[in-house]
Amino acid sequence: MDIAVVGSNNVDLITYIDRMPKEGETIEAPEFEMGCGGKGANQAVAASRLGATVRMVTRVGNDIFAANTVKNFDDNGIDTEWVLETTGSSGVAPIFVDRESNNSIIIVKGANGLLSPQDVADAGDAIGECKLLVLQLEIPLETVYAAIDLAVERGVPVLLNPAPADTRLDPEYVAKCTYFVPNETELSLLAGKDLETIEEITEAGKKILAESKLENIIVTLGSRGSLWLTETDEVLIDSTVVEAVDSTGAGDAFIGCFATRIVKGDSVPDALMTASRYAANSVTKRGTQYSYATAEEFENWAP
Ligand code: RIB
Ligand code: NA
Repeated sequence: MDIAVVGSNNVDLITYIDRMPKEGETIEAPEFEMGCGGKGANQAVAASRLGATVRMVTRVGNDIFAANTVKNFDDNGIDTEWVLETTGSSGVAPIFVDRESNNSIIIVKGANGLLSPQDVADAGDAIGECKLLVLQLEIPLETVYAAIDLAVERGVPVLLNPAPADTRLDPEYVAKCTYFVPNETELSLLAGKDLETIEEITEAGKKILAESKLENIIVTLGSRGSLWLTETDEVLIDSTVVEAVDSTGAGDAFIGCFATRIVKGDSVPDALMTASRYAANSVTKRGTQYSYATAEEFENWAP
């Protein structure tokens, strides 16, 4: 098995809007789409569509969404042995996308909030046999920490995508990972100060690298591209310019693709270049997972 994702799944309720309603106001929106989402599931699906073998450790509720989520994992060839069921609601994400393709997201954690350190321990062997563990922050932090500890103990490298941003993230756990992939806001939180210029970001990243066992920081910078930092290297990879339609889940497409290319043996800069193109491809289409290309579709895409 190439990749274990210990993380969230949501049902994305995407409403395409002309504008947000004001308080007390009712307005009409032109379109709606429901699809499978959640940062963990998105990254797993992107990786699987690109040819990685993927196992998902997650929790669904016992509502009308659960069966659909499990079916979606199956349809995407993802191992579901550790998709556990919980009484209550599945994770749900009402998302609003405006005409400029900007999105606003509300996350209801539901079952994701119940994925526990014990679940991680129970899935220990299943995680331990993977080449890479991929984590985000849509499950309880103590579960993220338990997964990092387990992976370190078993010699599995960890990729941590600290999204959505959480001020409580413990730098000691970041230090145990092999790949830390924040955006500029998430890195600023960890550094404890605003970071804007590439120089400021580089300096803060190098400081974190020098003080820890962490080997790679990859800062995603939107239209500025992505910045790969190690103790000795710094490489800025350009973003791929496309006409944006819906950027929901583009960050997850990037991580899923990067993780796949890494387990397939690419160098970090090569993996980042491919990930940047893959995320750009997803932005040209509506929806979250709906917009993730298969390996074949991606190969035939010429932006
Ligand atoms: O990163 C995009 C994802 O964030 C959406 O799929 C939504 O479910 C939220 O988790
Ligand atoms: Na999209």
